[in-house]
Amino acid sequence: MKPQPINEQYLLPTYARRQIAFERGQNATLFDEAGNDYIDFASGIGVNSVGYANPRLSAAVADQAAKILHISNLYLNRNQAELAQTIARLSGSDAQVFFGNSGAEANECAFKIARKYGEKRGRYEIITLRNSFHGRTIAALKATAQDKFHEHFGPFPDGFTYADDLDHAAKLIGKRTIAVMVEIVQGEGGVTPLDKDRLLSLAKLLRDQDLLLITDEIQCGVYRCGEFLASQIYGVKPDIFTLAKGLGGGVPIGAAATTIKNALGFGDHASTFGGNFLATKAALVTLEILEGLRASGALGRTIDYFGDRCRATTLNFPTLFTGVTGIGLMKALVAKDGAAQKAIIDAAHENRLLVLRAGEDRVRLLPPLTISLEEIGEGFERLDRACRSL
Ligand SMILES: Cc1ncc(COP(=O)(O)O)c(C=O)c1O
Repeated sequence: MKPQPINEQYLLPTYARRQIAFERGQNATLFDEAGNDYIDFASGIGVNSVGYANPRLSAAVADQAAKILHISNLYLNRNQAELAQTIARLSGSDAQVFFGNSGAEANECAFKIARKYGEKRGRYEIITLRNSFHGRTIAALKATAQDKFHEHFGPFPDGFTYADDLDHAAKLIGKRTIAVMVEIVQGEGGVTPLDKDRLLSLAKLLRDQDLLLITDEIQCGVYRCGEFLASQIYGVKPDIFTLAKGLGGGVPIGAAATTIKNALGFGDHASTFGGNFLATKAALVTLEILEGLRASGALGRTIDYFGDRCRATTLNFPTLFTGVTGIGLMKALVAKDGAAQKAIIDAAHENRLLVLRAGEDRVRLLPPLTISLEEIGEGFERLDRACRSL
C-alpha cells in the first residue's frame, strides 16, 4: 500500500498509524483509496456503532447541518433535552445528563459531581481499579490505574486511590472516600468483565454508606454488551454513569448522567461544544437505530453468532489462543502471549480485517453493532486465513 501523501511533519507523532488510507465504508465494510475492501471488527475503537454510511444517521446529520450545527448552551436546544430524556428512559433511571465531547470529558464531569457530593462531608477520594482506563486528561489519567500512562505528566491531582480488585476496593473505603469508579467490562486493560456478585455486594456497601458507584460505560455502554448499559446486565444501578464512543455513531459526544438530583448547579460546569445540535441529533438517531436493533432481536442474534465464531476460532488455533473473554459485541481472543498477539493483529490486517489490541495479550473485537451475519462470516474467514499463515 502506497503511504498517504500527507506530511507527518506537521502532526505530533502521538499515534502509530498503519499505512492504510480509507475512503468510504458501507455498514461493517471499508474501502481504501485503491478500492480494496476490509471487514471492520474495530469500529474506530468502538465508535461506529451503526456502521459506515448508515442511511438514517447520514440523512439526519445532513438535515441538521442544513439547519443549525451549534448555538451554544446559552439558548434552548430541543435535541439536547430529548437526548437527555432518552438516556434517562433507556437507563431505567431518573438521571439528569451533562453533555461534553469525549469520554475523558464525561469522566471529568463525573469526578466533579462526586466531589461536590462529598464536599460537605470532607470526602473527595475516588477509588479506581487496577488496569482501568478512564481517559487522557490529567485527572482522567490519574484515575487510570496503569502506571505506564503516568510517566512524564506529573504532578497529578490528589484524590484517586487504586484497588487491585473489587474486594480490595471495598477494603480501601475510608473516611475520605466518596466513590468507587469501575468499567463494567474493562476495555483497554484487556476486555475483562467484572465479577457480578462482587460488584453487587460492593454496590450495596456503597449505598449503605451513602457513597457513590460510578460506572464508566464509555466503551461497554450504548448496547455494546447487548443492553443500553452494561450495568443493566449486571443488575447494578450506578449513581453516575458515563458514555461516549458509540453514542454519536461517529459524531463526537460524551455524557455524564447522574441520579443525584441537581448534582451540579449554575456555573459549576460547562462545555462550549457540549451537546450541540449536530452531536445530539446524531446521538438521538443512533439510539433510535440501536434501540430498534435490540428490540427486534437482531442484536441478540448477531451477538450469539459472533460469540460462536470467536469460540470456534480459538478452538481451531489452540497454539495461538487460550480462550475468549468479554460480553456481547465487546470481545477479545486471548492470545498465548504478547508476541502471538502482535503477529495475529498484523496478519489480520494483511488479510484486510481490522482488529484491535487490548492488554498485553488480547486481540480485541468491537464490530459495528449493525454488522451483518455475512460480514461476520467473511471477517472470521479472513481471521482464520491470518491464523493459518502464522
Ligand atoms: C472506558 C473508557 N473510558 C474513557 C475513555 C476515554 O475516552 P476518550 O478517548 O473519548 O476521551 C476510553 C477510551 O478508550 C475508554 O475506553
